[in-house]
Amino acid sequence: MGGYRQSVGIFDTHAHYLVRDFGDELEQVLNELPKKNVERVIAVGCNLQSSEEEIALAKRYDWIYASAGIHPEDADKLPGDWEERIEALLKSPKAVALGEIGLDYHYEDSPSKDVQRKVFITQLEMAKRLDVPVIIHSRDACAETLEILREYKPRGVMHCFSYSAETAAEVVKLGMYVGFTGVLTFKNAKKTVAACEAVPLDRLLLETDCPYMAPEPHRGKRSDSSMIEFTAAKMAEIKGVSAQEMIEIANENGKRLFLNS
Ligand code: NI
Repeated sequence: MGGYRQSVGIFDTHAHYLVRDFGDELEQVLNELPKKNVERVIAVGCNLQSSEEEIALAKRYDWIYASAGIHPEDADKLPGDWEERIEALLKSPKAVALGEIGLDYHYEDSPSKDVQRKVFITQLEMAKRLDVPVIIHSRDACAETLEILREYKPRGVMHCFSYSAETAAEVVKLGMYVGFTGVLTFKNAKKTVAACEAVPLDRLLLETDCPYMAPEPHRGKRSDSSMIEFTAAKMAEIKGVSAQEMIEIANENGKRLFLNS
């Protein structure tokens, strides 16, 4: 065989591209991604408004897909028709996941645990009914998240993974994928590195969570999907493969989970 093979690009499975964060530069940032080795992106919604915005972006850009869902921090003050609206958004041709959804007990002023739990479970049931994968956000709520995942057994990813290696292994056992952001490159990321070690290659996903979580050497700056190369290089080092192999493997994993291909 031999000869020329076109190299596979980056699949950023978790990004937020909103005018709120990128302002006038949004178009330019998005247009430059394919030139920076980014092959496709999932633009992730967190509430009704951002889900609508991300789905609209996916309609305009070939390489952008989108998700719709209610983030735990947005789980209160929802309008009466929120479920119908999320469901309608998920029927858009390029909507590929329900998310991000989950539990976040980090902040005191977040919606109550009861409210978060109810909105999370409602969306897990919706994902089952519509047969779409879920993107799970879980922070300082490990035991309760696992308990719910064991009960509802969704297809999907635990995103921006921040828990232990034991928990990562448990998530893999449940059949789910595990996503890592630029946090993996931080100097104090020992626990996250150990979690990444515990996940088999065919369950790893690369994410930016941009505009947040920029990897080293860009930590603290506004990030975009092209910065995944630094996270990919770190993940490759942890897993003992080359950076390009890691990008290809994560791309395949993302396609299998979100694009059924
Ligand atoms: Ni996110």
